[in-house]
Amino acid sequence: MEASQSVPRGPWDVAYYQEQGLYFHLVEVSEVEPGSPRVRVTDRGEMLMFGSYAYLGLIGHPAINRAAQDAIARYGTGTNGVRLLAGTLPLHNELEASIAAFKGAEAAIAFASGYIANISTISALLERHDTVICDKLDHASIVDGCLLAGAKLVRFRHNDLDHLAKRLEQADPAHQRMVIVDGVYSMDGDIADLPGIRALCDRYGALLMVDEAHSLGVLGATGTGIEEHFGMAPSAVDVKMGTFSKAIPSVGGYVAGAAEMIIALKHKARGFIYSAAIPPPSAAASIAALQLIRDEPERVQRLQQRFAYFLDRLKAAGFNVLASQAAVAPIVCGSDERAVRLMMHCVDRGIFIQAILPPVVPTGLARLRATVTANHSIEDIDHAVEVLTEGAQRLGVL
Ligand SMILES: Cc1ncc(COP(=O)(O)O)c(C=O)c1O
Repeated sequence: MEASQSVPRGPWDVAYYQEQGLYFHLVEVSEVEPGSPRVRVTDRGEMLMFGSYAYLGLIGHPAINRAAQDAIARYGTGTNGVRLLAGTLPLHNELEASIAAFKGAEAAIAFASGYIANISTISALLERHDTVICDKLDHASIVDGCLLAGAKLVRFRHNDLDHLAKRLEQADPAHQRMVIVDGVYSMDGDIADLPGIRALCDRYGALLMVDEAHSLGVLGATGTGIEEHFGMAPSAVDVKMGTFSKAIPSVGGYVAGAAEMIIALKHKARGFIYSAAIPPPSAAASIAALQLIRDEPERVQRLQQRFAYFLDRLKAAGFNVLASQAAVAPIVCGSDERAVRLMMHCVDRGIFIQAILPPVVPTGLARLRATVTANHSIEDIDHAVEVLTEGAQRLGVL
C-alpha cells in the first residue's frame, strides 16, 4: 500500500495514517496483579503502571471479584434486553440506589457506559432553543451530547469564570440554560471551581451538570466527589454524572439528582431506552466497589497523599504540570516528537505511561499523562520520577 497524498482517500486509508504517524497501536495488558500497580504487557513483560484510570487500585479486589462471580452464578453474563423491556434486574435497582446514596441524591439512573450516560442525558434534558455552555476542556462525550441535543452550544475558556459569566449573560433567558463542566479535567488534572460556577448558575437561573468520571472516589475525604471536596451540599450540582469505569473498576455510567429528573430520564434518555442494560457481573462489581469505598475510605486518603507526593516530586524536578491538583498529572513536553520520545524512554525502562498528542490537546502542549493509584508505593513513585527526569534531561524537556 502506498500513501503520499495529503488527505486520506477514505475513512480506512491505513497507509495514509501510517505515513502521517497517526497509526495507533493498541497495547495489550495481558495480566494484572490485584492490589499492585504492576501489570504484564504482551511483548514487553512486567511494567509499572502509570497510566491507569483505576485510581483506587481496586481492579481484581477479591470482594469485587466475588460479587461479580456470584452475579454470574445467579443471573448469567447478560440480560434479557434493554432496561425498559426485560433487562432490569434487582442488581440494577440496587446499583441506582447505591450511587444515589453515595452522591447524596434523591435518585439515580444507570447506563451501559459513561459515554452513553452523557450523550443520552444531555440530549434528553435540552431542546433546540436552549443554550448549553461548556468549558473548553469538557470531555468529548459531553460535546457529542450537546451536538445530539441540537441546543445552542457555546464554550467558555477553561475554568475562566468571567468568561462563563459573559456566556450566561449572552444566553437567551426565555429558554433553558445549562452549564456543563468536568469535576477533574481528564487531560489536565485541575478541578472545576464549583463554588464560583454554582454562584453564577444561581445568578442566571441555569442548571449545572458536572461529569465526575475523574473525581468520583478521588475528591473529598471519603471520595464522594467534588461537592465534598469544596464542603458544599449535594444540592450544589443539579445533574451529577459519573462512570463506573475508573475508580470503580467496572463499566457503566450514572446520573444522580432529583427524583423527578431521573424519572424523566428513564422515559426520555435514548441510551437507556435503546441500549442493553449493564451486564449482571458489572452491576454487582460496581455495587461492591461503592460499598468498599464507604467501608474503607483510607484508600481514598492514600490516593490523595500519593498523588500529592507525585506532583510535588515532578514540580521539584522542574516539570511543567500545568495547574494539576488531582488524579491526572500532565507532564508537558511541548513538541509531539519529544512527548513520544519521552514516553518510549519510560516504556523501555518498564514504566507504562502514555503520550497525549494534538488534536486531543492543543498544539505545542503534547504531554505524558501520568496517573498514580492508591496501590503505588513511595518507592514506585520515586523510581518513575527518576526515570522521567533522566529522560527529560536527555531529550531537552527539562
Ligand atoms: C470526563 C469523562 N467523561 C466521560 C467518559 C466516558 O466514560 P466511559 O469510559 O465510562 O464511557 C470519560 C472516559 O474516559 C471521561 O474521561
